[in-house]
Amino acid sequence: QKDGYDHYMLKEIFEQPKVVKDTLAPRLPMDQDDIVLDNITLTKEVLEKINKIYIVACGTASYTGLVGKYLIERVARIPVVAEVASEFRYRDPIMDENTLMIVVSQSGETADTLAALRLAKQAGAHVIGIVNVVGSTISRDADDVLYTLAGPEIAVASTKAYSAQLCAMYLLSIKIAMELGKLSKDAFIELRKELYLLPEKVSQVLSQVDDIKALADKYINSKNVFYIGRGLDFAVSMEGALKLKEIAYLHAEPYAAGELKHGPIALIEDNSLLVGLTAHEELYDKTVSNIKEVKARGANVLAIALEDNKDISKIADDVIYVPRTHWMFTSLLANIPQQIFAYYISVGLGHDVDKPRNLAKSVTVE
Ligand code: F6R
Repeated sequence: QKDGYDHYMLKEIFEQPKVVKDTLAPRLPMDQDDIVLDNITLTKEVLEKINKIYIVACGTASYTGLVGKYLIERVARIPVVAEVASEFRYRDPIMDENTLMIVVSQSGETADTLAALRLAKQAGAHVIGIVNVVGSTISRDADDVLYTLAGPEIAVASTKAYSAQLCAMYLLSIKIAMELGKLSKDAFIELRKELYLLPEKVSQVLSQVDDIKALADKYINSKNVFYIGRGLDFAVSMEGALKLKEIAYLHAEPYAAGELKHGPIALIEDNSLLVGLTAHEELYDKTVSNIKEVKARGANVLAIALEDNKDISKIADDVIYVPRTHWMFTSLLANIPQQIFAYYISVGLGHDVDKPRNLAKSVTVE
């Protein structure tokens, strides 16, 4: 069942080119200049009245929400709040029929996410579910479902389902922008071209598995790992730190790079490890200057960068390069090295990668 891989997690990491293709291609038919989302009933008329979007989820799925917030606000110009469901459900959130809620869940059974969905429905909001498990409670209760076509995810730590969620979020944000007249047909055709190239670019990242394993071996004794990024990279850094915590049991913290000097930089000492994400190119110079500040305080720096930003190698101790794509889609490619890095640290430390301690695949109690 593991197809020759040592663990489900590694198998699922390597399934990602297919998962990305399966989630994107059926929604991007080449004979129509549009995104086709079969199960979405949200009409243009309702969408035009939407004045606020909530994206609600837990854990890794909530980081899909952070990417979604960034993209939808940038391309569709609607205010978006992305929030974890356990907080959202108890704060009497303000919703009405002009609110759109997007819930994100691999299992479709997460108790807090389901509770948030039910609150939204009570308030008359329209709910779209980005869900992996067909027929799950969230898929049944949402008004509309955009399925991630990732197939069953066995490893407790989410990898391929997260990548599929990002793809679904790319489709949804582009679709919303087009419906609202914020994105031209020509711009869409350019984006579609890039989306079609993503599976091959994911494969290119995966082909660096041996180099990334060597970096995991090099940094396996790190005690404190800091992940920093700005914009979309900040969302990616949240996922990188969570993956390291949950399967390698290492203390890892994500920070918005610009926040470091407001406190956390005091934690940096010789041999702390900093994973610096620099794939959100618009903010590259800003993040690089934060990385320099940390480097000057003795940290080891592992950077994740776009393939032609080679000058980062003068600052960082090590660099993992990912292929260039449209800025909207960098989060998918920048995250994959982090999955492989956490996987090999966990294996090297002798942990149960597929079933990390204290964790369950589906969290059906709050
Ligand atoms: C982390 C992980 C969890 C889940 C979270 C939500 O690798 O898997 O953080 O993302 O429990 O689960 P779903 O997506 O099933 O609602």
